[in-house]
Amino acid sequence: MNFETLLFEIENGTALITINRPDKLNALNKNVFTDLDDAMTEVLNNNEIKSAIITGAGAKAFVAGADITEFGGLDLAEAMALSKRGQDVFFKIENSPKPIVAAVNGFALGGGCELAMACHFRLCSENAKFGQPEVNLGLIPGYGGTQRLTQLVGKGKSMELQMTAQIIDATEALKIGLVNHVTTAESLLERTKDILQTIQSKAPIAISKIIECINVAVVSDSAYTNGKSGYDKEIEAFSQCFITDDMKEGTTAFLEKRKAVFTGK
Ligand code: COA
Repeated sequence: MNFETLLFEIENGTALITINRPDKLNALNKNVFTDLDDAMTEVLNNNEIKSAIITGAGAKAFVAGADITEFGGLDLAEAMALSKRGQDVFFKIENSPKPIVAAVNGFALGGGCELAMACHFRLCSENAKFGQPEVNLGLIPGYGGTQRLTQLVGKGKSMELQMTAQIIDATEALKIGLVNHVTTAESLLERTKDILQTIQSKAPIAISKIIECINVAVVSDSAYTNGKSGYDKEIEAFSQCFITDDMKEGTTAFLEKRKAVFTGK
């Protein structure tokens, strides 16, 4: 697929989505959102794709934020539309039934940190830097950052990071649970791909149910939980796994002492 602002390639069932505006540190402008939205539609609809990685082009940045040049002169309604658009595209990532992992290869600031947090989990390189510096601009995060950073690192740390605009390094991000692994810059994509190959060897319906249930545990917006508690959701998802071919295959393979071969049915 061809995009103006993204590179998109598929290898071993994993789509590699690279935000490609390195001269602007991959800042998220309107075109990036259009392309990300379309790329996610492709990830969801293309049966060849089992998982995806989101990363940034160049050695310096994952994404250095929303494109600040597009902020000038917005009125209240336009600012609301900008925030809603960002949130909607990021919900599409978060609610994807196929795993989406961020490989953070440099600055992940503002909207970049929010994009990484919308992914199911994150790896980063040693040179990565994270932060929500919006207060420096007289702003707050608008693409879900106030909610997701709090879910990931807890209320006190989230408050401090967002109120001080502090930029943290990879070691600190690992310590507070913002990322799962820190790698060298050279090995970041390979390590991320390896983890996704492990996930791709499991039953896809079970993986999608794990994503649904965990999202209900952390997403407070009732529009996304349909009023169900996480425990109710788990009963529903657990029982639905029981009527899949993959559950029969997984349990039979265990009893027959062989490796399960899942079909996604
Ligand atoms: N929006 C628009 N353009 C951005 C951008 C953003 N969020 N972040 C970086 N850029 C552009 C710069 O304007 C510059 O463009 P130019 O070469 O046409 O002047 C280019 O990307 C390179 O950035 P530069 O600032 O020169 O790099 P640096 O190494 O000196 O600093 C950062 C790197 C990340 C510290 C700095 O770019 C920065 O603070 N960016 C904004 C971060 C931010 O506030 N994000 C939240 C936005 S809500």
